[in-house]
Amino acid sequence: MKPAFVFGTRPEIIKLAPVIRAFEKRGIEPLIIHTGQHYDYEMSQVFLEELELHKIDYHLEVGSGTQANQTGLAMIKIEKVLMDEKPDVTLVQGDTNTVLAGALASVKLKIPVAHVEAGLRSFDRTMPEEINRILADHASEVLFAPTEEARKNLEREGIVEGVYVVGNTIVDAVLQNAEVAERKSNILEKLGLKPKGYALLTAHRAENTDSEENLRKLVDIIKSLPIKVIYPVHPRTEKRLKSLGLWEELEREEHVTLTKPLGYLDFLKLQKNAKLVLTDSGGVQEESIILDVPCLTLRYNTERPETVKAGGNVLVGLEKDRVMHYVERLLNDEEFYKKMANAENPFGDGKSGERMVDILLELYEKGELKVKSSRFI
Ligand code: UD1
Ligand code: UDP
Repeated sequence: MKPAFVFGTRPEIIKLAPVIRAFEKRGIEPLIIHTGQHYDYEMSQVFLEELELHKIDYHLEVGSGTQANQTGLAMIKIEKVLMDEKPDVTLVQGDTNTVLAGALASVKLKIPVAHVEAGLRSFDRTMPEEINRILADHASEVLFAPTEEARKNLEREGIVEGVYVVGNTIVDAVLQNAEVAERKSNILEKLGLKPKGYALLTAHRAENTDSEENLRKLVDIIKSLPIKVIYPVHPRTEKRLKSLGLWEELEREEHVTLTKPLGYLDFLKLQKNAKLVLTDSGGVQEESIILDVPCLTLRYNTERPETVKAGGNVLVGLEKDRVMHYVERLLNDEEFYKKMANAENPFGDGKSGERMVDILLELYEKGELKVKSSRFI
């Protein structure tokens, strides 16, 4: 079997590495296509190095652009590679423009798509990611839903065939790398931090960065936090903060440390040792519950409601009072802290990548890995 992987951003590299590893363990070298949606060293190459993905067969250098520009250019370039290489299946992960481009280009060439992390829904169609998720799921033959909740979302949209609940490969990634991070990373020493003596913050979502009003609310929250804050800044947010003069404002705050985006080992180590996490990232919400660190999500909805139901994550939006209320409770109410920190991980046992490969190989051997004319038979 000849599988092709299409990825282009930081979280896709992290979450697909375990699936690529699982293929390699069975003696199959997948074809690797990097769209180049993320291109800074800190957003791409560092992860390829740390996760030992040394072979990129095609680097498409799509880069940044408007939604249609980036998606369209990626589609055009991916189509050419798929036409030349004719893989048996295309794997994509998540909800980025790279995913949408990969899924559309592939299915139209009648090359079946396997969507890793299928069925997530924020039920907010103003997010570019929500549109990408819905369309990618509907273009896919094999849908790897991380949880039962995700499977139900697909069922609600009429997708029942080809759906497999397999857990989320983020657990594989954390389990495969947390110990290495503990041993290899010296980020705590580098930043002069004590375990559990700081909050880790990330924010890059379009809804939080593109709107000046929201970005100002975020900065106000960060300035008011009663704990040391480490904030590795996504390049999108860095540009916005600098253009609005807010970067300097944050730099002046003694309790705030701004850094470049960090490699996976440093980030995992920081996350594991953080007192709490504040984030609008999908992957970071998942990792905190896996690492037993309470998470406050700087959004009004989440496509990871399992984390909220389990009690490890609270949606605080950009409401300063709400954020402060929860931060104070986490810092002063030990019982409450323990309850959040001990919430059960809903994303599986860390063997999701292996399971996906088993399923794909079985479908392939049975001759069932193909684009079907209808899902509804
Ligand atoms: C994208 C995904 C988002 C995901 C995130 C992971 C879409 C629509 N969004 O958001 O779902 O959570 O990746 O991090 O696909 N930039 C750089 N260097 C880089 C990459 C980006 O400077 O290496 C800057 C550029 O100014 C670019 C901006 O960041 O315009 C946004 O990048 P883009 O890839 O469009 O979206 P992300 O915000 O990264
Ligand atoms: N991450 C990282 N360095 C950072 C910030 C995040 O390695 O400076 C990792 C994090 O551990 C998680 C992933 O990047 O696995 C999340 O990516 P991101 O927040 O960019 O995207 P999302 O998950 O929201 O799509």
